[in-house]
Amino acid sequence: MLKGKSLVNIDDVASEDFFRIFDLASEYKKRLSVGEYVKELEGKIMSTLFFEPSTRTRLSFESAMHRLGGNVISVSEAKSSSASKGETIADTIRMASSYSDIVVMRHPMEGAARLASEFSSVPVINGGDGSGQHPTQTLLDLFTIWEKFGRIDNLDVSLVGDLKYGRTVHSLVRALSRFDNTVNLISPEILQMPDHVISGMKQARRIKRIENLDDVLTKSDVFYVTRIQKERFVDLNDYAKVIGSYSFDMETVSKMKKNSIIMHPLPRVDEINPEVDMDPRAYYFREASNGVFVRMAIISMILGVR
Ligand code: NCD
Repeated sequence: MLKGKSLVNIDDVASEDFFRIFDLASEYKKRLSVGEYVKELEGKIMSTLFFEPSTRTRLSFESAMHRLGGNVISVSEAKSSSASKGETIADTIRMASSYSDIVVMRHPMEGAARLASEFSSVPVINGGDGSGQHPTQTLLDLFTIWEKFGRIDNLDVSLVGDLKYGRTVHSLVRALSRFDNTVNLISPEILQMPDHVISGMKQARRIKRIENLDDVLTKSDVFYVTRIQKERFVDLNDYAKVIGSYSFDMETVSKMKKNSIIMHPLPRVDEINPEVDMDPRAYYFREASNGVFVRMAIISMILGVR
């Protein structure tokens, strides 16, 4: 059960809750599609504290809260808050939690959301902590896969790109590996998924490092493509070595199975050529719009109205 709890790591969410979230997200999706106004969170306030850039995560959380009839107060830039005056995360979160019923935080430091949850008097949702985790992205990714295939097991999933610094894939690989899936890890040598991310998982033997995208192109059901996280490189010479490592264009896509899909947490830089957007296998915009419904479900379950 999510009620009253912080959501910092995907491991905080029980597998049964994945399906509760999917059911509720589907319900909200249907209700909104017929123009219904859902008033379940009238009078509740969400704080969104974003100390790193964001388009989809912040806007979809705020949209979700508004769609539920609640209100939002927000910090959308580190420099506009007292963090720029040297205030600690602990003090910032003490205040934000006294002004609201739930807090969503994005921060460049791995572990920031966990720290915040320890000082907060209300549940904290991790909207991304450095190269750590991005659990709500994973829930909307899984929901998108579930909508398409009707299941989140018995799938062959290829994670492609920056598997070292990308937090979305750190959460996703842990969630996928709870079920009977094959997960292929495809990245440049210096951007491999760190061992600590996949250690201690029962299904780790179904996770394989693959050198060439071509080896999985005709067999995977899902291609989860990610951006090289330029902002996290210590040495930009290393970034120069890996830029443009993977690029999906129509030639790549033409080799994929008819029933497969391409996902991407977005923003994309050059990993997916816009010519792919019109192909029915391009699922990334649908994935991003599902963010609102899935986040509505998460918020209302944490706040205990569902
Ligand atoms: C991702 C993030 O911030 O981790 N974006 C998102 O939340 N959809 C991916 C990225 O920045 O590459």
